[in-house]
Amino acid sequence: MQKKVDFLVIGTGMAGLVYALKVAEHGSVCLLSKTTIDDTATSYAQGGIAAVMYSPDDYEKHITDTIKAGAGLNDEEIVRITITESTGRIKELIEWGTQFDKEKSGKYALAKEGGHSEYRILHHKDTTGYEIQRALSKKVREHKNIEVLENYFAIDLITEHHLGKMITRGTKDITCFGVYALNQKTDKVDTFLAKATLLATGGLGNIYQTTTNPIFATGDGVAMAYRAKAHVENLEFVQFHPTSLYVPGESPSFLITEAMRGAGAVLKTRSGEAFMKKYDERGDLATRDIVARAIDNEMKLSGDDYVYLDATHIEQNELLSHFPAIYAKCLSKGIDISKDMIPVVPAAHYSCGGVKTDENGQTSIHNLYAAGEAACTGLHGANRLASNSLLEAAVFSHRAARHAGAHFKKAGFRSGVPDWNDEGLVLNEEMILIAQSKKEVQSIMSNYVGIVRSELRLKRALDRLKIIYRETEDLYNKSLITEGICELRNMINVAYLIIRFAQDRKESIGLHYIVSYT
Ligand code: FAD
Ligand code: SIN
Repeated sequence: MQKKVDFLVIGTGMAGLVYALKVAEHGSVCLLSKTTIDDTATSYAQGGIAAVMYSPDDYEKHITDTIKAGAGLNDEEIVRITITESTGRIKELIEWGTQFDKEKSGKYALAKEGGHSEYRILHHKDTTGYEIQRALSKKVREHKNIEVLENYFAIDLITEHHLGKMITRGTKDITCFGVYALNQKTDKVDTFLAKATLLATGGLGNIYQTTTNPIFATGDGVAMAYRAKAHVENLEFVQFHPTSLYVPGESPSFLITEAMRGAGAVLKTRSGEAFMKKYDERGDLATRDIVARAIDNEMKLSGDDYVYLDATHIEQNELLSHFPAIYAKCLSKGIDISKDMIPVVPAAHYSCGGVKTDENGQTSIHNLYAAGEAACTGLHGANRLASNSLLEAAVFSHRAARHAGAHFKKAGFRSGVPDWNDEGLVLNEEMILIAQSKKEVQSIMSNYVGIVRSELRLKRALDRLKIIYRETEDLYNKSLITEGICELRNMINVAYLIIRFAQDRKESIGLHYIVSYT
């Protein structure tokens, strides 16, 4: 099947939905999801969305906090754009039906998280992302110009490469004409041609053994863009969230929001010692890189598999009204958070790097935009400030939509794009090889490319990965396309990039902590 659409959007999280709603005013829109519309990391978001709402907060304070968290590697212009446009984007989310919690006075209730000097996190209890996703996906479903195709797995971006032109890294003037995507209901690969394509594929947490991310988060967008020779950036900066619920074998790991520390919860060793003040004067509300490393260190010192988060001194009413989902989840594991301390461990959570974009969400490939976690705008630098991710998605989807809406008519549909060729390929029966290789990638990344790195560990990771890469490319070239082989290939591509970026950065900074350079 070949389908033509003005705007193609890969991903139905916050980035994809905001963009779709806006470009739908200009033309036809098709959204692809590899699972279902609401199965997104956006739906998992707990703490909330950071924005400057009331005094004594102001834009300069939020800008300073963002740059301090990012260890100064942020693009200051992009930080300024994001923060100064935050209030407008929040108003829009509210107009679209998102309900943020309010105080009795009618003002929005604002929470605090690590690295923030003011209370500025808008939230909907501890299920903020679910509420945003609900409101946006309702509007998208109602829009007559938008079609949503679920269970469609985007495999590769279509560029001049598919028309027989030799493209190498560094080739200038590459153009994106659309995407090849696997219809998981028919097992056929369809061709989507578009005037503008947005990558909004989210994160890559599943290249690690323990992650807060939904299982689909395998870095597909970054891998696709890299294979198409787009610029990617900052991939060494993988953020580990300090506090995921310790339940061995459970995947994804359930997050215990940082807002709980904002409300007064304290990290303690298993022997009951509060330890964060030893590491940073901000204590439990230091930035995530510092808190995750401190927990890692305490676990290594004690040999324990977890530390505790103690919320037992917070009023039960506050726990129940602000954190009902966490309360219920912990109770289902036999932990009453008003009486018992919560066992927590760090887990891979967020990719600060991604497909390099400019202030309008444009990538280095013509007619290809990226937004949300798949993109690297320059906002986060070496470490993302808590709750700045949803904000970034809102701001740059809006900007990308504005730009694409103004320029898409010049693009047209590319003629002569061949259909996907799978002649002579056979269905790979060896699913066990794919499952096993995925586990090997996760093990390599967790053991050698985690919170603390060394040059030797990075080299070992690369050497091991190269073997899996060769085996997988061999299998890929012989097999009919399946989601499993595509995901594995993407995981290997992205793991490779993280290792190479980590090897190239000869300093410890933000989330990249390497013992050779401390
Ligand atoms: P997502 O919401 O992840 O959506 C990705 C979409 O891409 C999905 O629809 C998926 O199906 C689709 N997709 C991926 N690959 C393909 C493919 N190959 N083909 C077709 N479709 C594909 N951030 C905050 O700012 N505040 C928070 O409180 C917060 N809490 C969080 C809590 C948790 C547990 C997690 C995991 C993250 C949290 N984050 C938070 C981070 C934030 O939720 C994400 O960074 C953000 O939602 C990403 O949005 P997105 O639109 O880029 O991607
Ligand atoms: C959290 O609620 O702790 C997650 C916030 C984020 O990832 O920004």
